[in-house]
Amino acid sequence: MYKAAVLTISDKGFTGEREDLAGPEAAAILKSKGYETVHYAILPDERERIAGELKRLADERRAELILTTGGTGFSPRDVTPEATLDAAERLCPGIPEVMRAASLEKTHRAVLSRATAVIRGGSLIINLPGSPTAVRECLLCVIDEIGHGLDILCGRASECGRHSG
Ligand code: MTE
Repeated sequence: MYKAAVLTISDKGFTGEREDLAGPEAAAILKSKGYETVHYAILPDERERIAGELKRLADERRAELILTTGGTGFSPRDVTPEATLDAAERLCPGIPEVMRAASLEKTHRAVLSRATAVIRGGSLIINLPGSPTAVRECLLCVIDEIGHGLDILCGRASECGRHSG
């Protein structure tokens, strides 16, 4: 079972002005897919703080999958992708590409998502948008392939092979 961490990035969630529904939605999907969520927190939209927490979760907590939700849009306070890149060692463009492509069938505003995905050590970090619906739409279209990616990242599978379907 892989360890997961969920970070909700929201000024209003952090101060308690808004109930966080997106983080629990991500955790529920992770649980249904066999991940153990070992850490959940709400952080304000502050780049250094987000990057520091991502590095800690990867380097010390060693969560194989780290999901963020929120802060990927155009608001001046939205800095989650930049904080994620601050923690990045390698890029995973395919994951946000597929999330945006699938999301376009739901809303054309998917083009406004600046989400990224990166690898740091043995951890895969993925940004998701901030609404629970968007979390579900984006996560479900990549989660099954992510398992195989983690198997390779963590040395449990040595090659991809091909499977039909
Ligand atoms: N993707 C999906 N699947 N569903 C959505 O409702 N909302 C979009 C986009 N991606 C959306 C989506 C909108 S309106 C914005 S502004 C961006 O995600 C960024 O969202 P965030 O600022 O909450 O992170």
